Amino acid sequence: MKILAIESSCDETAAAVVENGRNVLASEVYSQIETHKVFGGVVPEVAAREHLKVIDGIVKETLKSSDNSLDDIDGIAVTQGPGLIGALLVGITYAKGLAMGSAKPLIPVNHVHAHVHGALLGLDEGEEPQYPALALVVSGGHTNLYLMNAPTNFQLVGHSIDDACGESFDKVAKLLQLGYPGGPIVEKMARSGRPGAYPMPRMVEEKARLQFSYSGLKTHIYNILRKAPDGLDEQQQADLCYAFQEEALGQLVRKIDAASSRYPVKSILIAGGVAANLRFKERLTESCSIPVQFPHLRFCSDNAAMIAALGFHQYSCDQENGSQFFDYDWDAFSRYDFS
Ligand code: KG4
Ligand code: ZN
Repeated sequence: MKILAIESSCDETAAAVVENGRNVLASEVYSQIETHKVFGGVVPEVAAREHLKVIDGIVKETLKSSDNSLDDIDGIAVTQGPGLIGALLVGITYAKGLAMGSAKPLIPVNHVHAHVHGALLGLDEGEEPQYPALALVVSGGHTNLYLMNAPTNFQLVGHSIDDACGESFDKVAKLLQLGYPGGPIVEKMARSGRPGAYPMPRMVEEKARLQFSYSGLKTHIYNILRKAPDGLDEQQQADLCYAFQEEALGQLVRKIDAASSRYPVKSILIAGGVAANLRFKERLTESCSIPVQFPHLRFCSDNAAMIAALGFHQYSCDQENGSQFFDYDWDAFSRYDFS
């Protein structure tokens, strides 16, 4: 079964064709990072307008590079939310038009849940992760920990009570005037940092609390910089990046460790932009005794292949109970429901 997917929740316009939820036939991502760089972050209205300009071209190019036409596609999946509302509406409206015009099923997909399937795109077709699994989506907008009993079953067991982990990398890079997005820059700087130069506070230390918190770390860094009116030299900046990164990642490792002792999980899935961090992979692999699956680098950040993969599972589940996916009458949701 071939699914064409469209993703436009933030600053990437993406389309993909994926077979059976695993075999990526084509995946195109147009990043708007250069457009938003001058503002130091994503400007929602600018993002929506950029999506509008390129979405038709991206989808056509993706179909072409997958060697398929719309006739070969079994269903269309699209990000329903969460995300920037104007940006989401561009992808959804385009996908609805495509689905209605071709009388194909339209599958609304949760972007955050779909990230987890980004991690599974690295596995061979037919190779399934062991359930129950613990899944951590760690990106610029979310730090969500899920207990999963099946590919479409997501029970939220922990989340950040303030900033997301990736967001804190971005904010720390901004405080240090290192550029945007902050994650890859901080990771690179941290490689030449010296351990022990800057002690960091430990946030939400109690093991019993499966919650994350990052705004205190950012404030701690702000206060260090405030006390250094002449700024930091390059070595001190690297030391600070090292200290921040160790604590930011340490918190993820501690909470995964606590959750995997609380729940009888057989595997751990890591997804989202921060999953690209090699130090995170190193630390988690060292500390975990159960198998950990990270995404390929190209499926860490936003892409449409992950939307197609989860869309495939939703569609496959539905075939037994009749086809809800010919109902095109649904709305976008912009915010994540934590209930
Ligand atoms: O998943 P993603 O592309 O977009 C969403 O937020 O949905 O994640 C982007 C986030 C940004 O905050 C970025 O700074 C962070 O992922 N990130 C990283 C790294 N690469 C990207 N954070 C830490 N280390 C990295 N290597
Ligand atoms: Zn994302």
